[in-house]
Amino acid sequence: MAMMGGNLSRWTISYFAVAIAWLLAAEVLMVVGFGAPSADVASPDTLVLVHVVCIGWLSMALCGALFQFVPVLIAKPLFSERWTLPALLLLNAGLMALLAGFLALGGRIPWSVSLLPVGAIVLVAGFAAVSINLGLTLWRARPLPAPARFVAVGVACVCATAAIGTVFALARSGRIAEPLGADALASGVSIHAIAGLGGWLTLTAMGVSYRLLAMFMLAPDADARKIRATLLAGAGTMAIAIAGGVFAVVAEGGIDAVLALAAVAGLMTLGLYGRDVIALFRGRKRRSLELNIRMTVLSLVSLAAVVLLGGLLAATGSFVRHIGAFAFLVAFGWLSGLILAKLYKIVAFLTWLEVYGPVMGRTATPRVQDLVVERRASKWFFIYFLAVWAATAMLLVDATLAFRTAALAMTIATAGIVHELARARRLLDVAGALRLPAGAIAPRLMSSRT
Ligand code: HEM
Repeated sequence: MAMMGGNLSRWTISYFAVAIAWLLAAEVLMVVGFGAPSADVASPDTLVLVHVVCIGWLSMALCGALFQFVPVLIAKPLFSERWTLPALLLLNAGLMALLAGFLALGGRIPWSVSLLPVGAIVLVAGFAAVSINLGLTLWRARPLPAPARFVAVGVACVCATAAIGTVFALARSGRIAEPLGADALASGVSIHAIAGLGGWLTLTAMGVSYRLLAMFMLAPDADARKIRATLLAGAGTMAIAIAGGVFAVVAEGGIDAVLALAAVAGLMTLGLYGRDVIALFRGRKRRSLELNIRMTVLSLVSLAAVVLLGGLLAATGSFVRHIGAFAFLVAFGWLSGLILAKLYKIVAFLTWLEVYGPVMGRTATPRVQDLVVERRASKWFFIYFLAVWAATAMLLVDATLAFRTAALAMTIATAGIVHELARARRLLDVAGALRLPAGAIAPRLMSSRT
């Protein structure tokens, strides 16, 4: 257990709580038909929904997890624990201003579209506080183990995402004359989306997953040389998409070739990652897998489905028409599925560490697994994944009402999972006397005592 890190990052649980609130908000928006598919993919309403999911839920949850796990990956403490709360506040304030800016842009509220650049700048400050903190933490631990290098590339990608997003925010609010044609701006959006969903969220999640999978399955760490090859492919993909893409946008040409090349490199990265993950599963010593791992498998299945769907859509020339379904499967099947699966373990573990860590060895304490009831929780996870897959299919056949029904099932399943997380936090499933032995202090719901 010591390898999961003895130090608790104080606000990690708070990041998770806020992230989950944004996830539920996004799901409710989909249920009531706000944004795509009820509205156009490029409409301001869709931009609200996209950023609630990408920044509010996915980025916030990932930041919280990284503050806890980057120190574990490199066996060195976080550069600054004190920066983590201000970063959380900046990210949320910036996101709210950005969302208000999008709503103003769509004429839904009578406020100024200047909120867009205001939001962008506050978000940049928030992401800078996260990136510099993680960057300096990694810098002090050179030479970095392979999984930590993924995080370094991911952090570089979130900086690129935020920078490009800021240019859009300035352009959309009329602060800078749109320097390029509409086509070029549309290409810019794909670079921003690839850097965010692919570079920042996917590469970072991949890096952390190497360590977490090995840890929870008692498998030997994946071959470092092989991980480095996967990393090289991933970093190469991002270099092609971001540097090549920005160059093509500025030069006003060649973006299709750049995106095609990035797609091939991306495919190679995922192929290599698949190879590494299969090796981890083969080498595991733990035969019966915990719920978090079984659910991680479903998120990996979703990632494989993303590759299949992308290939199918590209082959039939319908990728652009179905970009919404593709992005939905990336965001909810792969990324959200993985994060929810991992949260189920991490929340229980961090709670255990906080409450029983200080009294361990002095009195009888429960095991981490005693904080959860997997059989009860598993149904919510199954409903969640089935609903996500059904919702993707409904997007593909343009069945908007059926999509909203599937989104409702996702919302109910998420609420079920959140209820289980809250029970773990409150130690409600720990048997009588073991629950709070002498000297142990009950945890708070949404922050940790460190
Ligand atoms: C400082 C942070 C950010 C700002 C200011 C920002 C701003 C914007 C703006 C203004 C657009 C609309 C572009 C246009 O159509 O003209 C956009 C689109 C988009 N953003 Fe961001 N963004 C930020 C961060 C992110 C992150 C972290 C992600 C993903 C992880 C992301 C994902 C996307 C996606 C997928 C779209 C395309 C949505 C669509 O066309 O429906 N953004 N962003």
